[in-house]
Amino acid sequence: MDWGMKNRLDRLMPDGKCFFMPIDHGYFQGPTRGLEKPAETIAPLLPYVDSIFCTRGTLRACIDPIESKPIVLRVSGCTSMVGADLANEELTTSIEEIIRVNASAVGVSVFIGSDYERQTLNNLTQMVNDCEDYGIPVMAVTAVGKEMEKREARYLALCCRIAAELGARVVKTYWCEKDFDKVVQGCPVPVIMAGGPKCETELEVFEFVHDGMQKGAVGINLGRNVWQSPHPVAIAKALKAIIHDNVSVKQAHDIFKESVITK
Ligand code: 5RP
Repeated sequence: MDWGMKNRLDRLMPDGKCFFMPIDHGYFQGPTRGLEKPAETIAPLLPYVDSIFCTRGTLRACIDPIESKPIVLRVSGCTSMVGADLANEELTTSIEEIIRVNASAVGVSVFIGSDYERQTLNNLTQMVNDCEDYGIPVMAVTAVGKEMEKREARYLALCCRIAAELGARVVKTYWCEKDFDKVVQGCPVPVIMAGGPKCETELEVFEFVHDGMQKGAVGINLGRNVWQSPHPVAIAKALKAIIHDNVSVKQAHDIFKESVITK
């Protein structure tokens, strides 16, 4: 692996583990609750996360370039919640722009099993071809659109493996209750867990993240379960401890409770 690629991955995953903070939701859902003003949402969370996952529009308009966290740039899109099919994505951002904004990585969604499987896998390979020339890692996002029931191990393992075979340096996928270890083991590159739908309680979030880490994931890319909570900083603190300090679910919950009380 060349120096630039290694350096970018190391900044994104210090100690080989990572907590990415996604604020890219607006690219298909508009002003998502909690993200109406991304700069205000993200400011108190920055000390606890390793990178920010966002589009170039939010990056330019809302993120201070001075002393910024590493950026994972969302580079696929062109669909919306109210359109015909979320899977019908194109690439949105050129390699020149990716370099210009000094992205540490890029994220591209693939919709495997959808009508747009070939198109979105082609988006991934095009990005890999462009980014590898400059030592920029590509993160594949195994997306399911509105079909959330697809999130079971056999399907996720298929998606992760295909994305890795096509050149993704890391793959973001959903945690699943059964056989998540098989998803991770079948993927030759690091697997990062997506947030998925909002959990009912903080404890549920800590439980699934802890379980996924025990089963071999290297980290999380988790947004709504953090910044839609009434206690985003407390959740972020506890999640950072699970990811980087290997604490138990109980210890994480204690960190959370203590942080809520002392706020
Ligand atoms: C959207 C994304 C988001 O980054 C991903 O869904 C994570 O956000 P959340 O934790 O809110 O689900 O890739 O396609």
